[in-house]
Amino acid sequence: MRLERFYENTEILHVNTEPDRCYYLPCDATGNSEQILLNGVWSFQYFPSVAEAEDFLRSEFDPKKMDKIPVPSCWQFHGYDRHQYVNLFYPIPYDPPYVPFDNPCGLYRRTFAAENLKKDERVYLDFEGVDSCFYVWINKAFVGYSQVSHATSEFDVTEYLSDGENEMYVLVLKWCDGTYCEDQDKLRMSGIFRDVYLLRRPKDHIRDFTIRTSYEEAVGKICVRTEKSGICTVKATLKDGDRVIGEQAGESICFTVEQPVLWNAEEPYLYTLELETEREKIVQKIGIRTVEIVDRKLLINGTLVKLKGVNRHDSNPYHGAAVTKEDALTDLRLMKEHNVNAIRTSHYPNAPWFSELCDEYGFYLISESDMESHGCGEVYSEEDKDWVSQIAKASGFAKAILDRVQKNVIRDKNRTCILFWSLGNESGYGPNMIEAAKWVKAYDPTRLIHYEGCTWQDWQKQDLSVLDVTSRMYAPLDWIQNYCENGENKKPFLHCECCHAMGNGPGDLEENFAQLYQYENYCGAFIWEWCDHAVYAGKTPDGKEKFLYGGDFGDYPNDKNFCMDGLVYPDRRSHTGLLELKNVLRPVRVTGYDRRTGALELRNMLDFTDAEDALEIHYLWKQEENVLEEGMISEFHLPPHRTMRVMIPPLQTVTGADETVLTIELIQKKDAPLTKAGHLLGFDQIVLAANADAVTQELSLAESVALSLISCTETETEYCFAAEHFTCRVSKRTGTVVSFIKDGTEYLKQPMVFDIYRAPTDNDGNISEKWKEAQLHHAMVRVYESSAWQRQDGWSVRMHFSMAGVSRQKFFEGNVEWKIGNDGSLGWYVEGGIDQTFPFLPRFGLRFGVDRSWNQVSYYGYGPQESYCDKHRGSRLDVFTQTVEEMHEDYLKPQENGNHFGTRWVHLEQMPDVGFTSRGAQPFEFGISEYTREELERKKHAFELEKSDFLTVYFNDMVSGVGSASCGPELAEKYQMKKAHFIWQMELRWA
Ligand code: GAL
Ligand code: MG
Repeated sequence: MRLERFYENTEILHVNTEPDRCYYLPCDATGNSEQILLNGVWSFQYFPSVAEAEDFLRSEFDPKKMDKIPVPSCWQFHGYDRHQYVNLFYPIPYDPPYVPFDNPCGLYRRTFAAENLKKDERVYLDFEGVDSCFYVWINKAFVGYSQVSHATSEFDVTEYLSDGENEMYVLVLKWCDGTYCEDQDKLRMSGIFRDVYLLRRPKDHIRDFTIRTSYEEAVGKICVRTEKSGICTVKATLKDGDRVIGEQAGESICFTVEQPVLWNAEEPYLYTLELETEREKIVQKIGIRTVEIVDRKLLINGTLVKLKGVNRHDSNPYHGAAVTKEDALTDLRLMKEHNVNAIRTSHYPNAPWFSELCDEYGFYLISESDMESHGCGEVYSEEDKDWVSQIAKASGFAKAILDRVQKNVIRDKNRTCILFWSLGNESGYGPNMIEAAKWVKAYDPTRLIHYEGCTWQDWQKQDLSVLDVTSRMYAPLDWIQNYCENGENKKPFLHCECCHAMGNGPGDLEENFAQLYQYENYCGAFIWEWCDHAVYAGKTPDGKEKFLYGGDFGDYPNDKNFCMDGLVYPDRRSHTGLLELKNVLRPVRVTGYDRRTGALELRNMLDFTDAEDALEIHYLWKQEENVLEEGMISEFHLPPHRTMRVMIPPLQTVTGADETVLTIELIQKKDAPLTKAGHLLGFDQIVLAANADAVTQELSLAESVALSLISCTETETEYCFAAEHFTCRVSKRTGTVVSFIKDGTEYLKQPMVFDIYRAPTDNDGNISEKWKEAQLHHAMVRVYESSAWQRQDGWSVRMHFSMAGVSRQKFFEGNVEWKIGNDGSLGWYVEGGIDQTFPFLPRFGLRFGVDRSWNQVSYYGYGPQESYCDKHRGSRLDVFTQTVEEMHEDYLKPQENGNHFGTRWVHLEQMPDVGFTSRGAQPFEFGISEYTREELERKKHAFELEKSDFLTVYFNDMVSGVGSASCGPELAEKYQMKKAHFIWQMELRWA
């Protein structure tokens, strides 16, 4: 047997499939589902090429000897083939419509019963997702062929069935001509990865139907147009809960709903529509809502709405693209908990029940077609042409592109949550995209069209009239500002991908969402992306979980860890970036506070809900860890989008000179389907310095103790200060304290050194090349001159020094003054500046090692999770107690982590009383780690990390922000450590 080469033919996309229709699962007249799921364990045989599969099919094989595989699944998770992660490169040569001879494939077999088939019955076979194409046989007869991985293929198999047991074979190919349209940035997986089922239906039935809702002057309309197969009468019933609103018969009917409850993501109210024929019933949930663009604004139900979104892939480390409803619900719950209200189904339609869940739980959707031909931009050429648009322009792909867009739109056309149809992702632009868009507009004028790929060419010169919004990804803030402020731009702006959440980051959330709120014609921002993609590979002998990424599978080409760029880890633990996002998206923001009257100015960031209905306000006054006063406010009036005043009792406690922090917490009032009452929705903090301007406090070094307790010896290379209980050595080579021996014990397990580098984060990707070019990773200190003198309370050493990388000129020059107190305290005062011709520094600080046992840390700063100058909105200023182990953020690809911004003091100890306390004259940044920065830089996976036999302490004047430059714009200047002049002053006291 030889397969017909449908899989290398862009004109034959489907053979014997039913025309596309909307998604529904019919029941019989008594309400029993007509669906017979064929999921389960199937027989399976893997072949490295189609030719071998063909040979096998020709041979006399024994099906009992075939392997077993669960359906749905991706075969790469069951030991076949191998994983591959690749972003925009095609995994095969670019030679459309052809694919390699060595095209891996899997033959699936199962039997199923079809008993008592009646004459007037039809049996349909549905596949909701098969990657990438497949052939079906039942009882040895060829049934049909289909492709488009993330679309439903339905076959009428009635004529192929025999009463009793039936045998079905499905041959799935890894690649086909559709591969050129499915070049999404993800782990490439194959197989029957979504549900397979039969539908046993009466011959005469409703084939397809289109529901349209509208709303005007307090009246909602729900209209249905049905298309039948055979002869039957359609009766439609509209219900609000159990209450029947109306009943009508006919093919095209309309219900009127007086004063309807409109659907929106904050209150996803749904009505029920029942469509009945003599022998069948189809139940659909449907919301009433409008979506439109008026005067450059995106309005839902006439109200200006902001889409606070994420891009979500179907991805799971244990079963890949074969995600379950439970997996999806986990995602939706986490999104709700973190104030996300919109999802772009990047870059293909999800399983059909996914948009039903979004209707039910309240998320706005951009539903994307299964279309990305990014790889065709990679042809080898010296010519700078619009290569990426080849497929969008090729007449041979016109049919395929239209088919992909239609399959998305037709299947999900009745879902309330979908506001936008997306033509696909990164496929360039040309007639094929334009034709597809025109079809969408004609077929469904009730929704909007998004497509970003046209920005790849000179976007203003294209015919963009078919698109409703201007979409861009990773647009710099000033570009957005220019676009939104330019009245010539008639379309709203949609940021379909922003704030690249790879590794430690993103650091640009607050700024991006501030802009979203600022401009009325900026309608939505979608973080790239929701989850890290990885493959779970069991545990190491010492129990660490292994997650693998591109390059770990012998895959070529591969894009390494570029797929681990989510707000959650593959196993859905939150990244610190998600915590940051949550608070950036808090439903209410404090916009002002009058300390004397206690008037708090609040802005409701929600679009439809009075904040009073959603939350209670908890206010809390603290001085370091001491709670001064607190209380709850549950009655206040704060309509959506409004700013109003709420009174909180002014602080009665006499606070003295210390810093006082007012924290305003937003607590969810009522249980919601995915989140519970009591859930913390977000918070604001107001820091009141006793003397508002005096953030700088005088450091009190040791109390005055009688002179001459300490003796000083000076050599060529160092100063040695000796007292009764301690000896401290300050090096003239490194400019730092290199040894501190107290009562016979060396406290510095590693000498102090000036340190400016960090284990590059994913977002440091580009700048770290410059750091290396500037040799910052091999920075050395040069001390030019030094002097020491005795003071009342101890000794001072002053040194003039610089720092430079090997082969490069110095990038820093300044002075340090060390103060060794009679009581053994250490103070330092650094003053200097960074040469402006250099790239910004990763950080500027000191590092040293202490005993491993000193692993109890408390600090007053931004925590409890890591915080950076551009990523601290999710953390709060408070006193925290943690172990050093807890302070490590275990990025799957190790990198800089665990910093604490805005720190006032740190205390480190081993019980009961060894350790130190450090204070800064101004807030400083610190981190303490069981891993050195060299180890974090060296290792490719978290599970390979080795602890050092000391703890490394990093104290910094400043750590550069983390940004989002792994794909987004460069780190904003204000977050770069590049101070032309600075003073950094701290002290450390051993316990
Ligand atoms: C975009 C693309 C995404 C992803 C992202 C980088 O260009 O649309 O699919 O590749 O960049 O992570
Ligand atoms: Mg891409």
